[in-house]
Amino acid sequence: MDRKLNLNRAETFSFVNPWIRYFLFFFSFLFWVFSLLIVAIGVYAKVQKATDTVRDTFLIDPAIILIVVGVVMFFITFCGCIGALRENIRLLKTFSFSLTLVFLTQLAIAVLGFFYSEQTQDALGKFVKKAIVHYRDDLDLQNLMDYIQKEFKCCGWNNYTDWSWNLYFNCTHENPSTERCGVPYSCCTPVPGEAVINTMCGFGVQTQNYLEANKSIYPVGCADRAVMWIESHLLLVGSLALGLALPQIAGIVLSQMLISQIQDEITSVL
Ligand SMILES: *[C@@H]1O[C@H](CO)[C@@H](O)[C@H](O)[C@H]1NC(C)=O
Ligand SMILES: *[C@@H]1O[C@H](CO)[C@@H](O)[C@H](O)[C@H]1NC(C)=O
Repeated sequence: MDRKLNLNRAETFSFVNPWIRYFLFFFSFLFWVFSLLIVAIGVYAKVQKATDTVRDTFLIDPAIILIVVGVVMFFITFCGCIGALRENIRLLKTFSFSLTLVFLTQLAIAVLGFFYSEQTQDALGKFVKKAIVHYRDDLDLQNLMDYIQKEFKCCGWNNYTDWSWNLYFNCTHENPSTERCGVPYSCCTPVPGEAVINTMCGFGVQTQNYLEANKSIYPVGCADRAVMWIESHLLLVGSLALGLALPQIAGIVLSQMLISQIQDEITSVL
């Protein structure tokens, strides 16, 4: 009788909280599926891409970055998922350790980016300069620059004269291009009620001064605009950072709790 009661107790009582266990499982599973999606997008982008201009511009192919991030995430979340399901301490420890490593790396990058904001801006400026130089060589770069300029209502990196970096828009007299001294259409301020889009609105603006250019295009460079955008969207930037950090912290805390509960369970059985 006594033995049976003891056995029953051992069967039903557990140090492992099922809520934590299943939450960690589903949570890891969700991000595991998400990581597969990231890898798929990266592979798709890699296969689609015929030219190497984007890679040369960003030093590393963004598709490769996606694939690497996806694969790392795949292995980490896999450890969390199976570790929680099987109550496997080794997998859970691997999960917790890798997640901590990833989190600290991101924190270090964020802190360095903040304290070396001038260098960060210089590095970004170099990327944008390359994107401007290769604007007509690669459709992705063209779309990226057009998107940035339209979205942030800016033109060039320092200002609109930066478009001289590009062969087609270069403002030297010898330049035979019809777009000489111009800027792309994405620099143009939309004219309300305009029936036919004037794609030539950016032509020749590099020869104009700020006030003249201001009439047809966004005269402010994207570097200044980016700084303004961050300053006016600090709440959004903070929320995004928190949204990135919170799941990682939750994963670390939950896996540590589960590990200690499983260890309690093991010592209680022994
Ligand atoms: C544009 O930026 C360049 C480099 O910073 C500067 O030399 C030039 O005076 C600026 N032009 C205008 C119109 O603001
Ligand atoms: C424009 O082209 C000329 C001649 O190729 C070159 O010397 C000059 O540096 C170019 N301008 C810019 C801003 O890159």
